[in-house]
Amino acid sequence: MVKQRADVSIVRIHDVPDAIVELFRNTFSRHPVSRFDSSLARAFLGTFARHATFLVARDASLNEVGFLIGGLASVLDSSRAQFIRKRFLWMAAASLHDARLMRSLFARVPPKHPPDTKHSCYQVRFIAVAPNVSGRGVGTRLLQAFEQTLPPGSSYHAWTLAGEHGAQDFYRANGFERDLAIGDHIRFCKQIS
Ligand SMILES: CC(C)(COP(=O)(O)OP(=O)(O)OC[C@H]1O[C@@H](n2cnc3c(N)ncnc32)[C@H](O)[C@@H]1OP(=O)(O)O)[C@@H](O)C(=O)NCCC(=O)NCCS
Repeated sequence: MVKQRADVSIVRIHDVPDAIVELFRNTFSRHPVSRFDSSLARAFLGTFARHATFLVARDASLNEVGFLIGGLASVLDSSRAQFIRKRFLWMAAASLHDARLMRSLFARVPPKHPPDTKHSCYQVRFIAVAPNVSGRGVGTRLLQAFEQTLPPGSSYHAWTLAGEHGAQDFYRANGFERDLAIGDHIRFCKQIS
């Protein structure tokens, strides 16, 4: 059966709604930030909303059903670093008895990779769609809206985990090519016209 496309509008936000905080925590439940209470995820997402491109998909009833965080990779990296710097002591104390959590909180994400000027400029850092509308074109709409924020002719990339086959198929279906694999992480790139 062919699924109907979802009727959504895409907006850029600067304040993160509760529904998006929850969608982040549910989708990226293994992300270290999701392992604390929702105030940490809210602060984490708020950093990107202030400094990067934060797009949200709203359905016809104005419910938030998806989001994308992207922009210049250097800005995304510095936003994350700023977030960690501000909460360094708190997070170090909170993860004191959990070496794995400590490592993932302070690790470089995605992993260190060879400099690649062609692809490392712009990046989609997070994209997620609510399960009740998945497979109905919302992720594709978010990517299209993100591409409209980029200079013509630029390229951008996104990382996925090797096990995330759905995300890999999603990127392929949207014109990305796999170009690099490091450890568990795979990078997909796309050149826009
Ligand atoms: C990946 C994700 C954002 C896709 O969003 P979506 O709205 O469901 O995707 P779309 O409906 O726009 O899909 C477009 C195409 O991608 C492919 N695709 C999307 N999800 C897929 C899946 N789970 N398995 C296989 N192919 C998939 C299909 O070819 C689809 O085209 P079709 O509907 O004509 O078959 C969503 O599944 C999600 O939130 N996943 C969890 C978070 C994640 O992995 N994010 C990426 C890493 S940050």
